[in-house]
Amino acid sequence: MAKVTNMNLELTTACPFRCPQCYCSMENVKHLALDTAKKALAEGAALGLQSVSLSGGETMCYPHLLEVISYAKKECGIPGVHAAFSGWRLTESVVTQLLEAGLDSISISLNGSTEAVNSLTRQGYADAIRALTLLRDMGYEHTTVNWVMHSNNVDDFDDLVSLCASFNVELLDVISFKPDAKAQLKSVPSQEQLLTVAKKIKNQSGKPTIYVERCYSQLLALVADTKLFGNFNRGKFRGCTAGYDAVSVNVDGSYSPCRHIHYKENYGSIREYMEQSPVIRALAACDETVAEEPCKSCRFLLNCRPCIGVNTEIDDRIAFKNAYCHVNG
Ligand SMILES: C[S@@+](CC[C@H](N)C(=O)[O-])C[C@H]1O[C@@H](n2cnc3c(N)ncnc32)[C@H](O)[C@@H]1O
Ligand code: SF4
Ligand code: SF4
Repeated sequence: MAKVTNMNLELTTACPFRCPQCYCSMENVKHLALDTAKKALAEGAALGLQSVSLSGGETMCYPHLLEVISYAKKECGIPGVHAAFSGWRLTESVVTQLLEAGLDSISISLNGSTEAVNSLTRQGYADAIRALTLLRDMGYEHTTVNWVMHSNNVDDFDDLVSLCASFNVELLDVISFKPDAKAQLKSVPSQEQLLTVAKKIKNQSGKPTIYVERCYSQLLALVADTKLFGNFNRGKFRGCTAGYDAVSVNVDGSYSPCRHIHYKENYGSIREYMEQSPVIRALAACDETVAEEPCKSCRFLLNCRPCIGVNTEIDDRIAFKNAYCHVNG
């Protein structure tokens, strides 16, 4: 039977910002229908959903945000209900309402410790800092910072970690740069930069805890690499989980395997989608046995499942490869 552990809900395409890195298409403002969101959450819960990520566009622009959070938590009992924000219009009363509705964590997106570094890839620095100040001053203990790693913000990593500590941030989530809205990847970190950040993550102690998102598989492989005991990042869930146990519900109610794989399909239910979609079937078969270069000859082949979205968005093809990863030289 189909199992769905993680769900992404694309709540809206509205956003006051236009971040240079952004993968969202914002040509027309659309909001996910409330009924569609509720149906997906109820069905996901029945299929074993552990975590739902609420996102956009700017999540704060969604008119039914509180209702969706409350439904996910109180009606469906989903263990982890998370939302990412730029910080725009986050006030003390909004935060209180979000938490009362049942939100388990609040992520603020920030790509640099200074306006200069952040603005290379994101807008809204002042809003993010204001939101982090507010959350700290409210005594909130579950703030996450979402940091998308680019070649142009790696040198700022130590300062960003210190900034997170000063805001009592619980978790720093290191996110891989996916193709932007023009299907381009212009600031991919070098091999040396990946090694540097992996070493820093290994040496980090105290707050914030540094978490590497599952689909940043090459960085997970580097962090988990040991001389004595081999590599701990292995098994089916060692990287990208597209086609396995994740689903993204798009703003128009269609389904895709992940927010970054734009093969959208319409089915009567998530269960039918997971069991019948040819895209899901092709992804489920996309493992190391069909690897292509640079992954095929990479020493981390069994410690990595590359972000398959990189290939689908740039080459329009499902393949076990990431031509934009520099780990294998
Ligand atoms: C699309 S935003 C939506 C929520 C909100 N507007 C925000 O910026 O936090 C969700 C997350 O995706 C990240 N993001 C945007 N474009 C990206 C890209 N090309 N690759 C990886 N992450 C990206 C953002 O930095 C943010 O942390
Ligand atoms: S990353 Fe978030 S804040 Fe920036 S343009 Fe995209 S949706 Fe808006
Ligand atoms: S080259 Fe491929 S297998 Fe090796 S670390 Fe990069 S994405 Fe993973």
